[in-house]
Amino acid sequence: MITGKYPSLRLRRSRKNDWSRRLIEENNLTSNDFILPVFLIDGKNKRQAIKSMPDVYRYTLDKIGFIIDKAIKNNLPMVALFPHTQNNKKNFLGTEALNEDNLVCKAIQLIKKKYKDEIGIMCDVALDPYTSHGHDGLFKSGYVLNDETIEILINQSLLQAQIGCDVLAPSDMMDGRIGKIRKALDKNGYKMTQILSYAVKYASGFYGPFRDAVGSKGLLKGNKKNYQMDFKNSNEALREVALDIKEGADMVMVKPGLPYLDIISLIKQNFKIPVMAYQVSGEYSLLANGIKKGIISNETIIESLISFKRAGANAIVSYYADRIHTILK
Ligand code: PBG
Repeated sequence: MITGKYPSLRLRRSRKNDWSRRLIEENNLTSNDFILPVFLIDGKNKRQAIKSMPDVYRYTLDKIGFIIDKAIKNNLPMVALFPHTQNNKKNFLGTEALNEDNLVCKAIQLIKKKYKDEIGIMCDVALDPYTSHGHDGLFKSGYVLNDETIEILINQSLLQAQIGCDVLAPSDMMDGRIGKIRKALDKNGYKMTQILSYAVKYASGFYGPFRDAVGSKGLLKGNKKNYQMDFKNSNEALREVALDIKEGADMVMVKPGLPYLDIISLIKQNFKIPVMAYQVSGEYSLLANGIKKGIISNETIIESLISFKRAGANAIVSYYADRIHTILK
């Protein structure tokens, strides 16, 4: 590996000038590397701040055009839609997930009608925005039911695909759902709808601000450890990815991002599948609040984001995506 020896070899030679540093840089970011999460709320003409996430907002549907216009102008390939569902629409079974007039469905419709294929739309497939207990699936005696949940996820997938969602992102960690969803999509004429599996999703404390953003925080009963992965494990991540690839996933997600760079790298080395990294709400909040308080500099944003690329991620879901063009400048 080392092909020279000090003093004839001096690695600082190539670091001396800016042009030279630019010449040897190994990784970079462009707007093509980003997926923008968008939080949706009911109502009209509202932009609601999320306390724990500086500069991130929830928007009513009439404001969506403004966000998508900007995303397209800045060349972002895809947005990810997340609904903040009103409590009176949540129930034990999460039936609002199958309401074709729910926030996400209406947003897909709106965006597809106006923008066609100018930008991709990704939607979570999971019940947590809609259940009164905050879990991603059907909840019985303290346990989230696997096979029974999948039946609903299939219908949620078909509904979102039918309305025009381009990329379905099952984020619930049920076993076997990718295969069943793929099969149902193909059978119903949605052969080209992509599946981005949240194959490796850890039970993480870094999701805190997100649950605040979608309004499931106070509701969550217990934790998600009987379906999301234990952060002590990495072999298990490979097993999850191997299964999802066999079942028909087009891409896989690793989530959270920064504490799991080793997992991104491991997956890339073992499977040559597109890997997305999710810089989750807690990671964003720590950076954004640290910068706001003057504890760390703005540059830490790029430093964090580049680490995903170095690890091997193809793209990054980030709450910075809407500002990435200015950040990169
Ligand atoms: C739920 C979901 C979560 C996130 C995206 N989809 C949270 C959870 O599993 O509780 C978290 C994203 C973030 O923290 O930014 N299916």
